[in-house]
Amino acid sequence: MDLLRIATAGSVDDGKSTLIGRLLYDSKAIFVDQMQAIERASRQRGDATLDLALLTDGLRAEREQGITIDVAYRYFATPRRKFVIADTPGHIQYTRNMVTGASTAELAIVLIDARRGVLTQSRRHGYLASLLQIPHIVVAVNKMDLVGFDQAVYAAIVANYTAFAAGLALENLHFIPISALQGDNVVEESLRMRWYDGPSLLHYLETVEIGVGRNLTDFRFPVQLAVRPNQDFRGYAGQVASGSIAAGDEVAILPSGLTSRVCSILASGEPAPAASLGDSVVITLEHELDISRGDMIVRKGQLPVVTDRLECTLCWLSEEVLVPSREYLLQHTTHQMRARILCIHHRVDVDTLTHEEAATLTLNEIGQVQIQTARLLFYDPYTANRATGSFILIDPYSHNTVAAGMILASTPPVAAAPARQTSTTANRPRSTNVTWEGETLSRQTREVHNGHLAAVLWLTGLSGAGKSTVARLVEQRLFDLGCQTFYLDGDNVRHGLNGDLGFSAADRKENIRRVAEVARLAFMHGQLAICAFISPFQADRDLARLLIPQGRFLEIYVRCSAEECARRDPKGLYARARRGEIAEFTGISSPYEPPLAPEMVLDTERTAPEEAVSQVLEELVRRRIVKLPMG
Ligand code: ADX
Repeated sequence: MDLLRIATAGSVDDGKSTLIGRLLYDSKAIFVDQMQAIERASRQRGDATLDLALLTDGLRAEREQGITIDVAYRYFATPRRKFVIADTPGHIQYTRNMVTGASTAELAIVLIDARRGVLTQSRRHGYLASLLQIPHIVVAVNKMDLVGFDQAVYAAIVANYTAFAAGLALENLHFIPISALQGDNVVEESLRMRWYDGPSLLHYLETVEIGVGRNLTDFRFPVQLAVRPNQDFRGYAGQVASGSIAAGDEVAILPSGLTSRVCSILASGEPAPAASLGDSVVITLEHELDISRGDMIVRKGQLPVVTDRLECTLCWLSEEVLVPSREYLLQHTTHQMRARILCIHHRVDVDTLTHEEAATLTLNEIGQVQIQTARLLFYDPYTANRATGSFILIDPYSHNTVAAGMILASTPPVAAAPARQTSTTANRPRSTNVTWEGETLSRQTREVHNGHLAAVLWLTGLSGAGKSTVARLVEQRLFDLGCQTFYLDGDNVRHGLNGDLGFSAADRKENIRRVAEVARLAFMHGQLAICAFISPFQADRDLARLLIPQGRFLEIYVRCSAEECARRDPKGLYARARRGEIAEFTGISSPYEPPLAPEMVLDTERTAPEEAVSQVLEELVRRRIVKLPMG
């Protein structure tokens, strides 16, 4: 009997648990004791109908304790077919449902709440399904009972979603109006929606064509384990990711590139003539080779691509945003390695399917990125092979899965720094009906012309610490070297551009936000932007940093004790603040948060301004942002 793997996706409260429960219940796949427990619990709650969500929710608490298990598979069967549904706990993790195990899912159920209609989430899941190349999509328009089984409501949703899906490469898109709670069109055909003449959901699941899009050509066998029970036997255990192999076939082993021949194949301990996609087997080879977990056995002459730099589509699954400078663990087949995201090419607006600039990805966002891996990886593009073309990223500390990726290609080895300037924070405001005008002269072109790289030097510190003094001298030195500079100063910017802002925490945040945007524009024009702002809050400085590619934003802490600043008091402000004439004065009646991890610290109590300036210059040279003249 064949097996259909199903992924589910929807939004909060649209009835996923109830639907899964209903499928299990009506197809009689629930154990009797579980069923009695649900009936009891529903009765205790005074519900007339069974609360089928209890079936899946009851297991949820258990699962949430074992944090590492982020997906549960529910099995059920009818006389015609077996089914596996990937189910995930957590309320906002619906995207994860779809992505987890997606390389094997053949059908995705996208749930839409009939009352709420097509949401961004619904579009996101359709888009993801197309990216993941899930061959069949069923849009289940749920809660039809709550809209009076109204055909017009259903038709409007179908029209809306069909129009959206026209922009996607979805092959089989099917709609079914259901009520998971009351059972309409889930297993039994509904008598209350006679205007619908299609199959019930289960009937559709039972009859949909499976096996579409499987790669039966390229043999890929990621080795899970080298089995060596005694001196006489050496085999390699794993699951065939794609293609097939038979005893006697010639194979190559990656990464060594050594070749051999399949001696025997064991399935469940019994000799088998061949193995194909999905089979878990042990393979023995003619030669004694050193093969271990993470290696891959492939058919000779049918090699995957080997690289350490990937171009891929990434779906971010974590509430912690993507941090490009951080190291993640990349799990690809049975291989795990350290990896870093080098650059985000763009993020996809899932409502309009347009690309937009991005400096990070947040929960459920999808973007195209470039990844550097610490070791070589053997892959096929996702379009050719869903198993060897996909991977997940894991947080090395929490061990949570933070992203799922689909490999598009590898970056050519000599590719220069990413050509696109990509910067924006996730929640960077944008006016309506505006599009980003691409630049005619790229930053890279300007940098070549200027003879130095663009960067943002962000000087932070108390009023009177010496930020402006150092900043002006740094600018002078850079100017003398022929560099393109742009100077932004707190007091000056508060004349005009930010003249409407005061010194409350909210106003300071807005002050820094605007200035950071200006610095970014200067940066994109190839300039060295020198910014001198108290910028007392780490979070605000972090946001400024997010706008600039990694390595080009230097947070420079101009350190000086509050006592010394008050003694210097160049503008007489400390004295006035002490007398209570200035409210919210930094260092007196408003806090200053010293940088947590600045690129540089300049101690102006012990270092003369000229010396501090030299330190900045040395740092710029060390980072190859600026070159000193020869000689
Ligand atoms: S920030 O906190 O929003 O980053 P910013 O650097 O723009 O401050 O402006 C600081 C300058 O504003 C100081 O150098 C000082 O001359 C002036 N100023 C006026 N009122 C205050 C205040 N309450 N706190 C700090 N600086 C103030």
